Amino acid sequence: METNEIKKWLSSDIFIFFKQGKPYLWDFRNHRQFEISTEDFSRLSEFAEGSKIKQDKVDQAITEAGILTDGPSNEEEWGWDFLARIYHIGTSHPNAPSPYEPSQHIEYAKSYLDFCQSIHASSPQVLIKKGGTKNLLPTPNYQELINASLWHTLVKRQTCRDFYDETISIESLSTILGGTLGAVDRGHYDSPVGVQRFGYRRTSPSAGGLQATEGYVWVRKVKDITPGIYHYVNDEHYLEEISPLPIDPLSTLLCNQHWCDDLAFAIFFVAKFDVMWWKYPHSRAYRPMLMDIGHLSQTFQLLATALGLQTWLTGYFHDKEINNLLKLTEPKEQVIFVVGAGHGSGSGYDRTVRRLLDENS
Ligand SMILES: Cc1cc2nc3c(=O)[nH]c(=O)nc-3n(C[C@H](O)[C@H](O)[C@H](O)COP(=O)(O)O)c2cc1C
Repeated sequence: METNEIKKWLSSDIFIFFKQGKPYLWDFRNHRQFEISTEDFSRLSEFAEGSKIKQDKVDQAITEAGILTDGPSNEEEWGWDFLARIYHIGTSHPNAPSPYEPSQHIEYAKSYLDFCQSIHASSPQVLIKKGGTKNLLPTPNYQELINASLWHTLVKRQTCRDFYDETISIESLSTILGGTLGAVDRGHYDSPVGVQRFGYRRTSPSAGGLQATEGYVWVRKVKDITPGIYHYVNDEHYLEEISPLPIDPLSTLLCNQHWCDDLAFAIFFVAKFDVMWWKYPHSRAYRPMLMDIGHLSQTFQLLATALGLQTWLTGYFHDKEINNLLKLTEPKEQVIFVVGAGHGSGSGYDRTVRRLLDENS
């Protein structure tokens, strides 16, 4: 029996999924999940078209869940598909800010310390070794970087798509790896207030200080290093062998961006999801995971530029095949971004594009 003459509509910020054989509704704007029955499901479909509330248990539960609206969903302007919307809205903070209250500082500090201590016992491995044959690297030589002007380096950095097929020195690779991914300042990474020491610091900031990114190096033309795939051991500064280089060039893994085939080396930035899951189990942490790698990428670009190399970067690649090549344990380790460097002209246009431009000019 319909008792309320006012029509209601189902919110557009929901989706239905199955977990352990049971259907659930996920209200991703308000971060709430509800197990639903077949009756709920068929009623929800009616509300999707607009329906008057009935006075029964099903409608009462749907009303209380707060997923009905007063009008049909107003398709907001959104340039990506629904998946990106679910992710963006679903990881936005659902609550309004609470009023400013200085006395809460002590509660906040206490709960932060309690939280850190409660998770410390189960901390995942952060000093990663894969076990392959060790390849020692020379000590990084930071003198050239110390002498370089920050501003000139920032302005000089550019995305190059025209590399020469030339070898770079092992010192350059060592300095770039050490300066981007290596541990710095370990001795001073102490905590005066009782939070236990965790991991190591790098030159780039990292969400939660977790350093949840590893570097795998595609070595193609670096003096004194056999071409191959290596893992960089951050805290001890050496490379360990993963596998020989595949027969096909790098571009086959990078969606045919053929200008990368003359890079002297490339670094695959791999996220350690398990490290993020440990401290930040909410999927909002996917955002800082990406940003961590963005910071590392920029540090890489600046260091390589300051050493006189040209740089390139990409997020466009065949994930699964790269994960297999690097022998990663999915889903907890996954490639997220690729950067590379070598000698080159510095042109942002690859040679074929330049030729076409020249022909048409
Ligand atoms: C997150 C990100 C992803 C990128 N992906 C690609 C890519 O897949 N292929 C490519 O050739 N360049 C890529 N680039 C480089 C941009 O095209 C380049 O930074 C932009 O054109 C500005 O030029 P500049 O770097 O010389 O200042 C990417 C840059 C960023 C920051």
